Amino acid sequence: MIGVPIDAGGWDLDALEAAARGAQPTLAYLIPDFQNPTAALINEQSRRRAVRVLEHAGSHVVIDETFAELCIDEQAMPPPTGRYSDRVITIGSIDKVVWGGLRVGWIRADPVLVRGLASMRVSGGLASPLLEQLVAVSAFGRLDELVSERRTLAAFRRAALRPAIRRLGHHGTIPAPTVHSSDRAAWSSDLDPRRPLDVAAGSCRRIRYLLSPRSC
Ligand SMILES: Cc1ncc(COP(=O)(O)O)c(C=O)c1O
Repeated sequence: MIGVPIDAGGWDLDALEAAARGAQPTLAYLIPDFQNPTAALINEQSRRRAVRVLEHAGSHVVIDETFAELCIDEQAMPPPTGRYSDRVITIGSIDKVVWGGLRVGWIRADPVLVRGLASMRVSGGLASPLLEQLVAVSAFGRLDELVSERRTLAAFRRAALRPAIRRLGHHGTIPAPTVHSSDRAAWSSDLDPRRPLDVAAGSCRRIRYLLSPRSC
């Protein structure tokens, strides 16, 4: 597996291009909409370039849109990445909108590929429990309403979070998270959550950073 650097400003496209050319990966997995954990929103130009480079290298490009609907602030969103090629595979999960743990997602791809994946899922015994599938189907009927509720709730929590961090004695800059997530935090800009030493420094200031493998 080859990782490509990312920060709040976006992907390191030169590194992505070098990885695509050098390794010609079978599959590339990208999160252009509020990447977890940086919350980076990738601009239109970078999306287009990444898809072009990866397809040229022969990679299947998987775009994770799990957070695309959940930005807290009104802002213009770049076009969906699937626009740049018919071969892009788009995936997402409904659990961030409905409730964490529902674990039902979706795939948008070429119909032949979708049929193949669906039959593998059933024959491999990986299908989600029936009750959860039924809940997801009924939630799809009121998705817009649920997204709006989530965004309102997230804005309320963000407004409460920043003064709470200040009350804990943290005086650095606290950027406002731009997206709802059950497992996203408000990272302080003078601490880098990917660096263990910075995490330790945060603990000294009585701010505990919880790291999962996804945070690194
Ligand atoms: C970008 C991204 N995609 C997918 C998932 C997982 O979704 P699910 O909980 O449906 O497995 C997460 C979970 O945090 C995520 O951050």
